[in-house]
Amino acid sequence: MKKSLVSIGDFSKEEILKIMELAADFEANPNQRILLGKVIASLFFEPSTRTRLSFESAINRLGGRVIGFSEASNTSISKGETFHDTISIISNYCDMIVMRHYLEGAARYASEVAKVPIVNAGDGANQHPSQTLLDLYSIMKTQGTLEGLHIMMVGDLKYGRTVHSLLQAMSHFGARFTFVSPVELALPREYKEFLTEKGLQFVETQDFNKYINDVDIIYMTRVQRERFSDLMEYERVKNAYILRNSMLDNTKDNMRILHPLPRVNEIATDVDANPKAYYFQQTENGVYTRMAIITYLLGAK
Ligand code: CP
Repeated sequence: MKKSLVSIGDFSKEEILKIMELAADFEANPNQRILLGKVIASLFFEPSTRTRLSFESAINRLGGRVIGFSEASNTSISKGETFHDTISIISNYCDMIVMRHYLEGAARYASEVAKVPIVNAGDGANQHPSQTLLDLYSIMKTQGTLEGLHIMMVGDLKYGRTVHSLLQAMSHFGARFTFVSPVELALPREYKEFLTEKGLQFVETQDFNKYINDVDIIYMTRVQRERFSDLMEYERVKNAYILRNSMLDNTKDNMRILHPLPRVNEIATDVDANPKAYYFQQTENGVYTRMAIITYLLGAK
């Protein structure tokens, strides 16, 4: 039976830990030709740098072949072909589809249409589960554990799909959370209800400095212009929270700063040289984690 990764909820705690183990194995030995003869479709209906290229790098390193597009305007969708037909037909050409789409729910729908597994590479403001797995791998590598950590999430918690997926995943590991955002971009109620149901502690604040010295991870996010229908509102909140080097003086020695990237203004460039900045190494972890996801879903590892 095919297994897709549409939401991080599709993986149990044990499966998440298995992905961590596989990613570490691929990091130690990245050139394993275990996808020889496999074709993977990379379908990006929305722009991407890291997710698309790290998936394609992962496939290439594993000896597989990539087909696909980074712009749907070059496909027959521009002639009026439906999303349903597009996915159904492409699933005849490949062994797996990695897909990013601007609409929430598009990946779930694709998983119902396609004959092959779907990996959701981000659907609107909903979920970004492969990012979450690489975030977890980054947290595991830097903290030595996923258990019992204090995670601060900052920025666009309303539309930030990486935030939504990550807090769901961290709920397996007894995390506590501090959410820092403008009121307009606060975490949606359903995610707060989810944490309450799981018995996990969280606080919401607009004061970035209040808990910064107590956290193990600062997870920064970009305020995403493309999610706003009212650009005046975007202008009002876009620079609400900027992390600066001077704010890190009394943070925990082992605290690390993560960001799914791209960054706009929310991390000042003077943070980049601080050993607590981990967001560039985090992108490399994406290749190993995506190798792990693909091989796990294809039963190749
Ligand atoms: N983190 C992330 O999804 O980056 P891209 O949009 O560049 O893929």
